Amino acid sequence: SQVPVITIDGPSGSGKGTIAKLLAERLKYSLLDSGALYRLTALAALNRDADLSDEATLTEIAANLDIRFELRDGEVAALLEDRDVSRDIRMERVSMAASKVAAMPGVRAALLQRQRDFRRVPGLVADGRDMGTTVFPDAPVKVFLTASAEERARRRFEQLREKGVSVSLRDLLEDIRARDARDMNRAASPLAPAEDAVELDSTGVDIDGVLQTVLQLVRDRI
Ligand code: C5P
Repeated sequence: SQVPVITIDGPSGSGKGTIAKLLAERLKYSLLDSGALYRLTALAALNRDADLSDEATLTEIAANLDIRFELRDGEVAALLEDRDVSRDIRMERVSMAASKVAAMPGVRAALLQRQRDFRRVPGLVADGRDMGTTVFPDAPVKVFLTASAEERARRRFEQLREKGVSVSLRDLLEDIRARDARDMNRAASPLAPAEDAVELDSTGVDIDGVLQTVLQLVRDRI
Protein backbone atom coordinates (compact mmCIF):
# COMPACT_ATOMS: atom_id res chain seq x y z
CA SER A 1 0.00 0.00 0.00
CA GLN A 2 1.18 3.53 -0.77
CA VAL A 3 -0.60 5.15 2.16
CA PRO A 4 2.06 6.16 4.73
CA VAL A 5 1.90 4.87 8.28
CA ILE A 6 3.79 6.17 11.30
CA THR A 7 4.03 3.52 14.01
CA ILE A 8 4.61 4.46 17.65
CA ASP A 9 5.23 1.43 19.84
CA GLY A 10 6.32 1.19 23.44
CA PRO A 11 5.29 0.23 26.97
CA SER A 12 2.29 1.76 28.73
CA GLY A 13 2.93 5.26 30.03
CA SER A 14 5.79 6.02 27.64
CA GLY A 15 3.74 8.88 26.18
CA LYS A 16 3.07 7.13 22.86
CA GLY A 17 -0.67 7.82 23.00
CA THR A 18 -0.09 11.55 23.48
CA ILE A 19 2.55 11.71 20.76
CA ALA A 20 0.38 9.72 18.33
CA LYS A 21 -2.58 12.04 18.89
CA LEU A 22 -0.52 15.21 18.40
CA LEU A 23 1.10 13.81 15.25
CA ALA A 24 -2.25 12.81 13.75
CA GLU A 25 -3.65 16.29 14.40
CA ARG A 26 -0.59 17.98 12.97
CA LEU A 27 -0.45 15.84 9.82
CA LYS A 28 -4.25 15.44 9.42
CA TYR A 29 -3.76 11.67 9.47
CA SER A 30 -6.13 9.06 10.90
CA LEU A 31 -5.33 7.69 14.33
CA LEU A 32 -5.34 4.10 15.52
CA ASP A 33 -5.11 3.51 19.27
CA SER A 34 -4.65 -0.25 19.01
CA GLY A 35 -4.57 -0.69 22.79
CA ALA A 36 -8.21 0.46 22.81
CA LEU A 37 -9.14 -2.60 20.72
CA TYR A 38 -7.63 -4.92 23.34
CA ARG A 39 -9.26 -2.90 26.10
CA LEU A 40 -12.66 -3.11 24.35
CA THR A 41 -12.24 -6.87 23.94
CA ALA A 42 -11.43 -7.15 27.64
CA LEU A 43 -14.40 -4.98 28.64
CA ALA A 44 -16.80 -6.97 26.43
CA ALA A 45 -15.51 -10.16 28.10
CA LEU A 46 -15.83 -8.72 31.63
CA ASN A 47 -19.36 -7.47 30.82
CA ARG A 48 -20.49 -10.96 30.00
CA ASP A 49 -18.55 -12.65 32.81
CA ALA A 50 -16.48 -14.64 30.36
CA ASP A 51 -13.62 -16.79 31.59
CA LEU A 52 -10.60 -14.56 30.83
CA SER A 53 -8.34 -17.56 30.31
CA ASP A 54 -10.58 -19.24 27.71
CA GLU A 55 -8.94 -18.38 24.40
CA ALA A 56 -11.74 -19.76 22.19
CA THR A 57 -14.34 -17.57 23.88
CA LEU A 58 -12.09 -14.50 23.87
CA THR A 59 -11.27 -15.01 20.20
CA GLU A 60 -14.96 -15.22 19.39
CA ILE A 61 -15.61 -12.01 21.36
CA ALA A 62 -12.76 -10.21 19.54
CA ALA A 63 -13.96 -11.37 16.13
CA ASN A 64 -17.50 -10.16 16.73
CA LEU A 65 -16.81 -6.91 18.60
CA ASP A 66 -19.40 -4.27 17.80
CA ILE A 67 -17.30 -1.13 18.18
CA ARG A 68 -16.87 2.32 16.71
CA PHE A 69 -14.58 5.28 17.26
CA GLU A 70 -16.18 8.70 17.07
CA LEU A 71 -14.90 12.23 17.44
CA ARG A 72 -16.70 13.85 20.36
CA ASP A 73 -15.64 17.31 21.61
CA GLY A 74 -12.24 16.93 19.95
CA GLU A 75 -11.60 13.60 21.68
CA VAL A 76 -11.85 10.12 20.18
CA ALA A 77 -14.65 8.30 21.98
CA ALA A 78 -14.74 4.48 22.03
CA LEU A 79 -18.19 2.96 21.63
CA LEU A 80 -19.05 -0.62 22.51
CA GLU A 81 -22.50 -1.67 21.26
CA ASP A 82 -23.35 2.03 20.78
CA ARG A 83 -22.43 2.96 24.36
CA ASP A 84 -19.58 5.40 25.07
CA VAL A 85 -17.14 3.37 27.18
CA SER A 86 -14.14 5.71 26.84
CA ARG A 87 -13.80 6.00 30.62
CA ASP A 88 -14.59 2.37 31.42
CA ILE A 89 -11.80 1.01 29.25
CA ARG A 90 -9.22 3.06 31.21
CA MET A 91 -10.06 1.41 34.54
CA GLU A 92 -7.23 -0.52 36.15
CA ARG A 93 -9.09 -3.84 36.10
CA VAL A 94 -9.71 -3.45 32.36
CA SER A 95 -6.01 -2.63 31.83
CA MET A 96 -5.00 -5.84 33.57
CA ALA A 97 -7.60 -7.90 31.69
CA ALA A 98 -6.53 -6.32 28.37
CA SER A 99 -2.94 -7.36 28.86
CA LYS A 100 -4.12 -10.92 29.60
CA VAL A 101 -6.32 -11.26 26.52
CA ALA A 102 -3.67 -9.57 24.36
CA ALA A 103 -1.35 -12.53 25.04
CA MET A 104 -3.73 -14.86 23.13
CA PRO A 105 -2.75 -15.49 19.49
CA GLY A 106 -6.40 -16.07 18.54
CA VAL A 107 -7.42 -12.65 19.86
CA ARG A 108 -4.49 -10.95 18.08
CA ALA A 109 -5.36 -12.67 14.79
CA ALA A 110 -9.02 -11.67 15.13
CA LEU A 111 -8.05 -7.99 15.53
CA LEU A 112 -5.38 -7.85 12.81
CA GLN A 113 -7.45 -6.91 9.75
CA ARG A 114 -9.54 -4.46 11.77
CA GLN A 115 -6.32 -2.59 12.57
CA ARG A 116 -5.10 -2.60 8.98
CA ASP A 117 -8.45 -1.14 7.85
CA PHE A 118 -7.49 2.14 9.57
CA ARG A 119 -4.90 2.75 6.83
CA ARG A 120 -6.55 5.39 4.67
CA VAL A 121 -5.40 8.45 2.74
CA PRO A 122 -3.67 10.75 3.51
CA GLY A 123 -1.99 8.58 6.18
CA LEU A 124 -2.20 6.86 9.55
CA VAL A 125 -0.56 7.20 12.94
CA ALA A 126 -0.82 3.89 14.83
CA ASP A 127 0.23 3.38 18.43
CA GLY A 128 0.58 0.14 20.35
CA ARG A 129 3.05 -2.66 21.00
CA ASP A 130 3.43 -4.39 17.63
CA MET A 131 2.46 -1.75 15.07
CA GLY A 132 5.96 -1.69 13.55
CA THR A 133 6.71 -5.41 13.89
CA THR A 134 3.46 -7.16 12.95
CA VAL A 135 0.57 -4.95 11.91
CA PHE A 136 2.35 -2.44 9.63
CA PRO A 137 5.80 -3.95 8.93
CA ASP A 138 6.14 -1.77 5.79
CA ALA A 139 5.60 1.55 7.63
CA PRO A 140 8.09 4.22 6.47
CA VAL A 141 8.44 5.75 9.96
CA LYS A 142 8.69 3.56 13.06
CA VAL A 143 9.31 4.87 16.55
CA PHE A 144 9.87 2.86 19.73
CA LEU A 145 9.18 5.14 22.67
CA THR A 146 10.31 4.22 26.18
CA ALA A 147 10.64 5.80 29.63
CA SER A 148 11.72 4.34 32.96
CA ALA A 149 9.06 2.38 34.88
CA GLU A 150 9.31 4.90 37.76
CA GLU A 151 8.67 7.84 35.45
CA ARG A 152 5.75 6.06 33.80
CA ALA A 153 4.19 5.25 37.20
CA ARG A 154 4.61 8.90 38.25
CA ARG A 155 2.89 10.14 35.07
CA ARG A 156 -0.01 7.76 35.60
CA PHE A 157 -0.20 8.84 39.25
CA GLU A 158 -0.46 12.52 38.24
CA GLN A 159 -3.10 11.75 35.58
CA LEU A 160 -5.24 9.89 38.11
CA ARG A 161 -4.75 12.55 40.76
CA GLU A 162 -5.97 15.23 38.36
CA LYS A 163 -9.09 13.13 37.87
CA GLY A 164 -9.54 12.91 41.62
CA VAL A 165 -8.70 9.20 41.74
CA SER A 166 -6.49 8.25 44.68
CA VAL A 167 -4.13 5.32 44.21
CA SER A 168 -0.77 4.37 45.64
CA LEU A 169 2.30 5.08 43.56
CA ARG A 170 3.77 1.76 44.66
CA ASP A 171 0.73 -0.19 43.43
CA LEU A 172 0.90 1.61 40.08
CA LEU A 173 4.58 0.78 39.74
CA GLU A 174 3.84 -2.87 40.49
CA ASP A 175 1.03 -2.95 37.92
CA ILE A 176 3.27 -1.36 35.30
CA ARG A 177 6.05 -3.86 35.94
CA ALA A 178 3.60 -6.78 35.76
CA ARG A 179 2.17 -5.54 32.46
CA ASP A 180 5.63 -4.85 31.00
CA ALA A 181 6.73 -8.37 31.88
CA ARG A 182 3.63 -9.87 30.29
CA ASP A 183 3.89 -7.72 27.15
CA MET A 184 7.60 -8.45 26.66
CA ASN A 185 7.61 -12.15 27.48
CA ARG A 186 4.58 -13.38 25.57
CA ALA A 187 5.11 -15.53 22.48
CA ALA A 188 2.58 -13.70 20.25
CA SER A 189 3.85 -10.30 19.07
CA PRO A 190 5.88 -9.45 22.18
CA LEU A 191 6.65 -5.81 22.92
CA ALA A 192 9.95 -5.19 21.12
CA PRO A 193 11.32 -2.56 18.75
CA ALA A 194 11.18 -3.37 15.04
CA GLU A 195 14.64 -3.77 13.51
CA ASP A 196 14.17 -0.54 11.60
CA ALA A 197 12.57 1.45 14.46
CA VAL A 198 14.10 4.61 15.89
CA GLU A 199 14.29 4.24 19.68
CA LEU A 200 13.51 7.33 21.76
CA ASP A 201 13.62 7.60 25.56
CA SER A 202 11.15 10.15 26.91
CA THR A 203 12.39 10.04 30.52
CA GLY A 204 12.87 13.66 31.54
CA VAL A 205 12.08 14.92 28.00
CA ASP A 206 8.99 17.03 27.43
CA ILE A 207 6.32 16.05 24.93
CA ASP A 208 7.25 18.79 22.49
CA GLY A 209 10.87 17.59 22.35
CA VAL A 210 9.71 14.10 21.35
CA LEU A 211 7.18 15.49 18.88
CA GLN A 212 9.82 17.60 17.09
CA THR A 213 12.12 14.59 16.77
CA VAL A 214 9.37 12.47 15.20
CA LEU A 215 8.28 15.30 12.85
CA GLN A 216 11.85 15.48 11.58
CA LEU A 217 11.75 11.73 10.83
CA VAL A 218 8.50 12.27 8.92
CA ARG A 219 10.05 15.05 6.84
CA ASP A 220 13.04 12.84 6.05
CA ARG A 221 11.12 9.71 5.12
CA ILE A 222 7.62 10.51 3.84
O1 C5P B 1 -1.65 0.80 25.13
P1 C5P B 1 -2.63 0.32 26.14
O2 C5P B 1 -2.11 0.35 27.55
O3 C5P B 1 -3.95 0.99 26.03
O4 C5P B 1 -2.90 -1.21 25.78
C1 C5P B 1 -3.65 -2.06 26.62
C2 C5P B 1 -3.07 -3.48 26.57
O5 C5P B 1 -3.25 -4.01 25.26
C3 C5P B 1 -1.57 -3.52 26.84
O6 C5P B 1 -1.27 -3.88 28.16
C4 C5P B 1 -1.05 -4.58 25.89
O7 C5P B 1 -0.95 -5.82 26.54
C5 C5P B 1 -2.12 -4.72 24.84
N1 C5P B 1 -1.70 -4.25 23.52
C6 C5P B 1 -1.08 -5.14 22.68
N2 C5P B 1 -0.76 -4.77 21.41
C7 C5P B 1 -1.01 -3.53 20.99
C8 C5P B 1 -1.62 -2.58 21.83
C9 C5P B 1 -1.95 -2.97 23.11
O8 C5P B 1 -0.82 -6.27 23.06
N3 C5P B 1 -0.70 -3.20 19.74
